[in-house]
Amino acid sequence: MIQVHPELHDDKILRLFEKGIHGQWGEDAIAWGQATDVTPRVRHGLALTLTPVYLGEQTAMIGIATVIPLLLRAGETEAVLYLSSMQLDEARHFRNLHRLYDLFEEDPMPARRLPEMWRYHARLLHSREPLEWVWGILISDLFARRFYGAIRDVDPQGLLGAIARRTLQDEARHQAFSDRFLENRIPQLPEERRASLLDLRDDLFRSMDGLAGRLEVPARDAGIDTTTLLDGLWLDTERWVERLGISATRRPARPLALPRTPRPGAASS
Ligand SMILES: [Fe+2]
Ligand SMILES: [Fe+2]
Repeated sequence: MIQVHPELHDDKILRLFEKGIHGQWGEDAIAWGQATDVTPRVRHGLALTLTPVYLGEQTAMIGIATVIPLLLRAGETEAVLYLSSMQLDEARHFRNLHRLYDLFEEDPMPARRLPEMWRYHARLLHSREPLEWVWGILISDLFARRFYGAIRDVDPQGLLGAIARRTLQDEARHQAFSDRFLENRIPQLPEERRASLLDLRDDLFRSMDGLAGRLEVPARDAGIDTTTLLDGLWLDTERWVERLGISATRRPARPLALPRTPRPGAASS
């Protein structure tokens, strides 16, 4: 796994690694004492709605730790350098949300009430193939971008807006890495491997649809519309499917391809 003097020739990824180093920021970058313009009801709704993101930051840390040995074995040293900086980003995102929960004096939703989240994590971490893993992490980063964007809009001038804006800068780097890593490799893939990337996308969206159903009410209290968020995420993902050449043929829109999981309560009525 360890090479004594590996070649480093992917300049684009090395430049992203440099950006990752210079883009680091600590807790002093946020004025934690600044006011948030949110009511207790919004605060409570946000605490519950943020749960998948909070867990997702931890999944990202586990995922990066898992994929690094696979990439080293494959001789992808530049990617390993970049992901080492991304690991610190995800740790920071986790720590920020942890601090936010303490500050709000709120708890995340109990894990047993979000079974789809565990399914999502298991599906993402199941992969032993770096390319599939990077594709899954790209979808997760697109989700994070939509979510932090929504949080920013809830409290644009306050603490939430400040955290979200800094976090979104990190997410932009993560997407640039996924883009670079995938753009050269996907065109070489046989058809069945590309189809497996679409299967992964569909499995992740199934879990997210279930999550959106469970979080619909607290999200609405927080001023976030889960349907708009997921529909936007589907369009983002479709753009990447086309851009990366994963599928040449357009698939039906998400609501037709993936019937949404019935809302809690809706199933019994
Ligand atoms: Fe993150
Ligand atoms: Fe990320």
